Amino acid sequence: MKNVTLNNGVEMPILGFGVFQIPDEETQAAVEAALAIGYRHLDTAASYGNEEAVGAAIKASGIDRKDLFVTTKLWIQHAPTGSVQDDTKRSFENSLRRLGLDYVDLYLIHQPLGDYYSEWRALQDLNREGAARAIGVSNFHPDRLVDLIDHNEIVPAVNQIETHPFHQRTADQALMRERGVQIESWGPFAEGRNNLFTDPILTPIAEAHGRSVAQVVLRWLVQREVVVIPKSVRPDRMAQNLDIFDFALTEDEMHRIATLDTGTSLFFDHRDPAMVSWLGGRRIS
Ligand SMILES: NC(=O)c1ccc[n+]([C@@H]2O[C@H](COP(=O)([O-])OP(=O)(O)OC[C@H]3O[C@@H](n4cnc5c(N)ncnc54)[C@H](OP(=O)(O)O)[C@@H]3O)[C@@H](O)[C@H]2O)c1
Repeated sequence: MKNVTLNNGVEMPILGFGVFQIPDEETQAAVEAALAIGYRHLDTAASYGNEEAVGAAIKASGIDRKDLFVTTKLWIQHAPTGSVQDDTKRSFENSLRRLGLDYVDLYLIHQPLGDYYSEWRALQDLNREGAARAIGVSNFHPDRLVDLIDHNEIVPAVNQIETHPFHQRTADQALMRERGVQIESWGPFAEGRNNLFTDPILTPIAEAHGRSVAQVVLRWLVQREVVVIPKSVRPDRMAQNLDIFDFALTEDEMHRIATLDTGTSLFFDHRDPAMVSWLGGRRIS
């Protein structure tokens, strides 16, 4: 497995396993299968409601903790009269307890909403204490990311953002590289939207390599040095998604895939007031 080195020296496997939208009761089996197949990097979040199941799978696997890379995310804290920093630390402790771990490898602010400056200060403390080996953000547009960097001490190690063939984020990636922030893709397959798996540009490239469209997409992201965390509940697909390190796309193929970029989200706009209010109104116990 190829690793990327984060801005604080922590090594992160470039490919991991995402568990968003896996129902809680199916998550333990899915994560156990993924670990048995060879995944060593897991991506969950407090808001996915399945941290306990991820933790149970880790425990059942018997894999040495230091051989795993575990990411979880902080949901938007709502403490209009209290301390967001204290609440953030409590939320982190709750995630650790649910995961059955005593540290995480990466802790992310899930959304650029609410008082995320206070949240970041709490994350900086957690990082300094060693409870989160690396800290980062998710869904941050470049302006928000740069502002956070310019007004704080620790530069986020990672920004996890929607990145797939229809929303490629090349300019965002260039800016992040300049600022020392590793790009991580969520939704590498755009969750199958836009008929990604039968796309007329991706399909012939997959056929030329005797691979699946999913493998071509993951290979394309990894060749761009984007960290990927595909989700599947099917072990055959989990194995396929991990098996992308023994072929390479040509420059011409990379250029053809570049033409698929629409430059916009297929999911939601973090600058849309209705979406901001909807996300901000979600409460995680
Ligand atoms: N930070 C954020 O705000 C955010 C938002 C979304 C996601 N994420 C993270 O990113 C991870 C991945 O994104 P995602 O789960 O939204 O979507 P995704 O990985 O783009 O797509 C998952 C879909 O693709 C299917 N699939 C997986 N492998 C396949 C293959 N080889 N061939 C055909 N179909 C395949 C899966 O179906 P089956 O399961 O039936 O195989 C599922 O329907 C999440 O699990 C989560 O950890 C983060």
